[in-house]
Amino acid sequence: MKGILLAGGTGSRLSPLTKSISKHLLPIYDKPMIYYPLSVLMLAGIKEICIISTEHDLPLYKKLLKDGSQLGISIEYRIQKKPNGIAEALLLAEDFIDNSSVCLILGDNIFYGQGFTPILKKATKLEQGAIIFGYGIKDPERFGVVAFDSNNKVVSIEEKPAKPKSNYAITGLYFYDNNVVNIAKSITPSSRGELEITDVNKEYLKNNALQVELLGRGFAWLDTGTFESLLESGQFVETIEKRQGYKIACLEEISFKQGWITEKQLLALANSYKNNSYGDYLIKIVEEGI
Ligand code: G1P
Repeated sequence: MKGILLAGGTGSRLSPLTKSISKHLLPIYDKPMIYYPLSVLMLAGIKEICIISTEHDLPLYKKLLKDGSQLGISIEYRIQKKPNGIAEALLLAEDFIDNSSVCLILGDNIFYGQGFTPILKKATKLEQGAIIFGYGIKDPERFGVVAFDSNNKVVSIEEKPAKPKSNYAITGLYFYDNNVVNIAKSITPSSRGELEITDVNKEYLKNNALQVELLGRGFAWLDTGTFESLLESGQFVETIEKRQGYKIACLEEISFKQGWITEKQLLALANSYKNNSYGDYLIKIVEEGI
């Protein structure tokens, strides 16, 4: 399975923060936002990744993450010229996807919770159809919404409905079989002029090929779309990291624990963060085996 990370858009809801810097590079406590969705792909065991962003912002991502080899992964980049919708990412990365199945994640989605890695690992075994994730929230109308009947069968999927039929938002993490490229080619732009990922998911639903997994109450799916939620996400990460002494979404740690880089490589990465607690943490991983 290959991974696509979409970090496009103008981030207008967070302006002036995003006037000159891409939203997905803003800090969530001690790392750029994009580290969090990238960590999800890496925890899933996905090593071939394509990052999609605007022409203006792409060089910044290249500077940050290079070709991925320092993390034992491979990163390719594609440009999304205009914010034509999430589903366009699947078309822009068609040659990258080739004949693989694919995991698509949005650059502003933060996931955290015990047992997440097994959920991801299971999803990467997908051979046919699609898997998406629902999460109960207070304001589902801001997202894609999935509703169920009394037998827990999915009855509808709607993009930002004025009157949501359930409180289950659809998170920005999607697993698809290779047919997704054909499906993305078949949909047309919505009234807001975008190729909606919700329309892709609806097509899988129509074909009886959509699985919806619910992430429970003990799980955190955090929002970064408003000033408040951006700050709160950073505070959430800080709280957990300070309490436990483990970092969330530390890419170097994940890579080392996946066996993708050696101890020597990890220490070399640690040395690039001189006199800084992020670097100290990487050294501790080796010295104290945390
Ligand atoms: C997008 C999707 C929506 C999904 C959300 C998750 O919304 O269109 O279905 O629930 O991501 O973050 P957008 O970020 O474009 O508002």
